[in-house]
Amino acid sequence: MDKFIVSKSKLSGTVRVSGSKNAALPIMAATLLSEEKFVIKNVPSLKDITTMIKILEVLGKKISFQANTLTVESKTKRRYVAPYRLVKTMRASFCCLGPLLAKRKKAKVALPGGCVIGPRPVDLHIKGLTHLGADISIERGYCQAKADNLKGNHIYLGGPFGSSVLATANVMMAAVLAKGSTLIEHAACEPEINALGQFLKKMGADIQGFGTPLIRIKGKKSLAGCEFKVIPDRIEAGTFIAASLATGSGLEIKGAEPGHLTSVFEIAKKIGAKITVNNKTKSIKVKTPGKLKAVNITTLPYPGFPTDLQAQFMACLAKAKGISLIHEKVYPDRFMHLAELNRMGASIQKLGPYAIIEGQKNLKGAETQASDLRASAALVIAGLAAKGGSKVSRIYHIDRGYENIEEKLQKLGANIKRIK
Ligand code: EPZ
Repeated sequence: MDKFIVSKSKLSGTVRVSGSKNAALPIMAATLLSEEKFVIKNVPSLKDITTMIKILEVLGKKISFQANTLTVESKTKRRYVAPYRLVKTMRASFCCLGPLLAKRKKAKVALPGGCVIGPRPVDLHIKGLTHLGADISIERGYCQAKADNLKGNHIYLGGPFGSSVLATANVMMAAVLAKGSTLIEHAACEPEINALGQFLKKMGADIQGFGTPLIRIKGKKSLAGCEFKVIPDRIEAGTFIAASLATGSGLEIKGAEPGHLTSVFEIAKKIGAKITVNNKTKSIKVKTPGKLKAVNITTLPYPGFPTDLQAQFMACLAKAKGISLIHEKVYPDRFMHLAELNRMGASIQKLGPYAIIEGQKNLKGAETQASDLRASAALVIAGLAAKGGSKVSRIYHIDRGYENIEEKLQKLGANIKRIK
């Protein structure tokens, strides 16, 4: 398994973010709604994308992927099973359920199970599809669904932790081919859902309100193929902001959509960063002070502070003068990185869904182990900020969600290298 060797670095220069993994994945699933050809640009070349390509090929799609452009065509539309061996490696594949059911009248998708960030329940997905008339059963770790005719309905999708991104995606992708009108209330408002809505509209769907808590859909008989460009990855951009804070560096992030990062800018400025945004050139300039200030962060569904940046910012706050508090309200157990940061000299305590961080003057390099995609990014950031070298193992987690991360960091002057 690959490892990263990381040591204290000062970053500078410009980095360009890739296309958004979390926008690309549901959009790829939406190609199941039509047998026509799709050309999808700015798709990041990542392990999770390769997994979704494999799942779509098992489901009868013919796919080519080069230079970040996906071409999707149809070979057969008879298949309807997304196998466990692929779904277990990437829980997001569960968002094939809605489009498969809508287009092929039946679907059998392995349940995502849990992962290190916590249980990954699918009750809201099932509630939404059942409200559209699907007959759903859970058998031997698979979700089996069938429906000869889906019918539009009024669906409330709010859960105990607020809205659900992929449950909203699944219901949107089923409702666009259901008979009649659907109103989704307490829909997820993430930019990735907005992007999915734009994609479905380009396919000819009658859909509005995506990106807001109220999505209105009028079902169509069929949808067409289309061309689409995936939005930039706001979590990757936020990860670089965290890296600049932790290393006391100034850098420029290009290609991101500043409008997707307002909550992140707020927190970064409270910690002490100076952020200069140019919406025209899509440039975000971050200048960070030597001394970081302790802050309180609560993670929330969009437009709140993203849970996917919680670990990365915890790595910064480990060095911020004072006591910081992180309240993880989306995945209350998403603190696997906490123990690893403490092994690097941080002083962080978990108290239920809270992490209490007593900032230290310095972190010390250590051998650490990545546990999930965003936690591994946090360990790399901590390694860049710590005195002495660090070795981060199990970085296949990071390869799932960051395209060429070490090349991008090296270009910024980071001392990081991958060893096989
Ligand atoms: C998406 O996962 C993202 N993944 C996650 O990013 C992200 O952390 C998450 O949204 C929250 O922003 C992709 O987009 C591929 P949710 P998703 O359903 O849709 C609970 C990454 O690092 N819930 O919005 O699966 C759930 O337990 C990944 O890129 C239910 O209770 O997340 C959680 O507490 C990690 N019932 C909360 O809702 C359900 O049926 C939000 O989860 C579904 C979810």
